Amino acid sequence: MFISLEGIEGSGKTTQIAQLASFLEENGHTVVVTREPGGTQIGYEIRKVLLASSHAEMASQTELLLFMADRAQHLHEVVLPALKEKKTVVCDRYYDATVAYQAASRGISHEIITHLHETLFDNLLPDITFLLDVDPKIGLKRAWDRIEETNNGHEARFEKEREAFHEKVRAGYLALAERYPNRFVIIDAEMSPEEITKKIQTELTRILKLT
Ligand code: TYD
Repeated sequence: MFISLEGIEGSGKTTQIAQLASFLEENGHTVVVTREPGGTQIGYEIRKVLLASSHAEMASQTELLLFMADRAQHLHEVVLPALKEKKTVVCDRYYDATVAYQAASRGISHEIITHLHETLFDNLLPDITFLLDVDPKIGLKRAWDRIEETNNGHEARFEKEREAFHEKVRAGYLALAERYPNRFVIIDAEMSPEEITKKIQTELTRILKLT
């Protein structure tokens, strides 16, 4: 099974992924936790290029193709082998991020992204996608607090985008949730981390019919 977590900056995905993985393991799944960009060694190098604050001049097309290159390597090295071995893959961001960021927000045609995804990746989509939905005002404040704590301002190209950019990302994600109602679960990420964990577990139990 393939599960992805999505949301704007500061939606709390990273905290929730660890909880989600333990919950699945307790329920008998062999879990592989991974992320995009940066789930492989090659992807890690691509990630640094993508996130560098100093790369403010990056063209949207360059950005799209680097995310796709990261995904190609990630599917090849991590996701497809794990799925083949019947493992449960839990991925921090995937295809929907490309539609939300590069199409809805940057303005690249959705059709091009869909076409590339179908052609290159056999249109592999997650079975379940948790969308941690949060107001960008709240998300960006959380994200910037974390950047200051970890002194990581050199990898903040996306956080540096205006609030309007993140509003469009959020709207893009909500539109995807409407388009794929069977796989999307929208979680109100303004709740406390504990409440979010509980909500994700309740939804997973319902979907997977866990006890
Ligand atoms: P990351 O530090 O992993 O962000 P977060 O911790 O919020 O997940 O940075 C990944 C950034 O890349 C994030 O801003 C979203 C962006 N992104 C895209 O624009 N398109 C994509 O296809 C993916 C996978 C990520």
